[in-house]
Amino acid sequence: MDVVLIGLPGSGKSAIGRRLAARHDATFIDLDEAIEHEAAARIPAIFEREGESGFRDRERAAIEGLGAPDGSAAIRRVIAPGGGAVVDPRNRWRLYRGRVPVWLDGRPEVLAQRLRRSPNVRPLIAGRDPIRALRDLTISRSRFYGAAARVAGMAEVGSVVDAVDRVVRESGVARGATLLRSDTTIGRVVIGERIAGRVLAEELGRLGAGRAIVISEPGAWGAVGRTLEADLRGSGLTIEVLLLPQGEAAKTLSVVETTCRDLARRRVERRDPIVAVGGGALGDTAGFIAATYLRGVPLVHVPTTLVAQIDSSIGGKTGVDLPEGKNLVGAFHQPTAIVIDIALLATLPERERRAALGEAVKMAALGDERLFELLEARGAAIAHGDPSATADGSLAELVERCAWAKVEVVAADERETAVRIALNLGHSLGHAFEAAGGYRDLRHGEAVAFGLRAACRIGVAAGVTPVDRAARIERLLDAVGLGTGLLPYSLAAVLDHLGADKKHRSGRLRWVLPTATGHAVHDDVPDDLVRDVAAGLLVPVVGGVAS
Ligand SMILES: NC(=O)c1ccc[n+]([C@@H]2O[C@H](COP(=O)([O-])OP(=O)(O)OC[C@H]3O[C@@H](n4cnc5c(N)ncnc54)[C@H](O)[C@@H]3O)[C@@H](O)[C@H]2O)c1
Repeated sequence: MDVVLIGLPGSGKSAIGRRLAARHDATFIDLDEAIEHEAAARIPAIFEREGESGFRDRERAAIEGLGAPDGSAAIRRVIAPGGGAVVDPRNRWRLYRGRVPVWLDGRPEVLAQRLRRSPNVRPLIAGRDPIRALRDLTISRSRFYGAAARVAGMAEVGSVVDAVDRVVRESGVARGATLLRSDTTIGRVVIGERIAGRVLAEELGRLGAGRAIVISEPGAWGAVGRTLEADLRGSGLTIEVLLLPQGEAAKTLSVVETTCRDLARRRVERRDPIVAVGGGALGDTAGFIAATYLRGVPLVHVPTTLVAQIDSSIGGKTGVDLPEGKNLVGAFHQPTAIVIDIALLATLPERERRAALGEAVKMAALGDERLFELLEARGAAIAHGDPSATADGSLAELVERCAWAKVEVVAADERETAVRIALNLGHSLGHAFEAAGGYRDLRHGEAVAFGLRAACRIGVAAGVTPVDRAARIERLLDAVGLGTGLLPYSLAAVLDHLGADKKHRSGRLRWVLPTATGHAVHDDVPDDLVRDVAAGLLVPVVGGVAS
């Protein structure tokens, strides 16, 4: 097997790695040394010559060059990448999957002391207050390091090697890979592949639960239930599964009442967690039940659709629909954990996958250049459910980038006041199109894609969106097959729903429009412009009849 030692500069990856390798007669690979050898230059010189991005390209190539993980039971290779390598999701996909990643953790103060004695220059720290620089790196990287098994790395070398040995023996090569783990203000977020059962059992253990109430629906549970249940039963927990109606039909007050009565009959208590296993509709309802039953019980989300993994399970918004409109009754209720397992998406129908990419394109347009490139290169394959898009890590990277972007926005603005409005890009007309279709014709992400096209066109006409930026966003929508063709709704109906949009403030709509690198909010978009742009996305009407 391959052991991968990760950690901040100064955490002892090389010293521990060499000793560990020697003990097991294994090969030690110091990736920074390999990069220096290949470039015939020291790392500071590479940074100077090629910039950090040039160095990161070389680093990615070196990690790809490791080839497939060694599958034997004994330790054959000990790999020590540079401390920043695991920031890139592509590197983590390669380093954590089928290998045993171990995090050598250490306090910044101690690491700084070690670095002062080290002859190696670390470009990201050089010239800065080392303790502060290391603290910053600890914060920005802890979610990547935290996905690996942690070993306190500050002790004497021999005892750290013993500890690593122990951890490797205990964990071995996991069946799946944890790619990210973070304790955020909006719940613990864990992302990985084939992790759901194991991580869920851990989370329920952390909550001290002896019993878990799983709320799911036939579509999601039929696809993922058997595996999850087997993993959970193995952990000794009592599992009770309640199935709600599939899809939007779950989001009614009568389903909430029936389910709460069921919980009461089962004598579910305030400390018994509810585990929501399903897509956005199931998660919204189960979340609302968790928010209100006994005035609130703990909630763990296990999202099983792409929409739920990148969007709806994050942020604590729960709720159900009324005949008068969607999501009109609800509550904010943050989960204790969100367990995002991309393997659960394997059975998802193509239309659901593709539609979810509407939200992903929105996230890219909000300013994630790498997400843009990823979608341009692999969006069509992801939409299609091409297994190569899972195998090469594209799906994992997409999920992580979108999910984490949402975590950051929501954590900065939990109750949806200012920052979170950015997420509304494409949603004003998107919601209106969705409503005009009676919430039956269009999946949410499909409607958002039309809304994004509208936002681009309004932005260009209003002088907010550069023409080439708008063209790039629309080309990407074409490439993933979203927002194409014209919608068969009446302009009057669309404008009517737009007027009812709940983001309507003091009589004016607040439009989130793309800029060259992100977004801007404008409340002075002329009604005529909105009308013209909306009409351009609808089937033209001849004599009152759609032609
Ligand atoms: N709370 C929020 O912040 C938020 C954000 C966005 C959307 N939403 C809500 O999310 C809902 C849409 O979510 P959705 O698109 O996930 O829809 P959904 O929950 O209706 O799921 C879509 C379909 O996929 C099936 N399914 C689920 N998991 C599956 C799997 N692994 N394999 C095969 N089939 C599976 C379901 O049975 C269903 O038929 C809407 O109600 C919307 O209002 C909420």
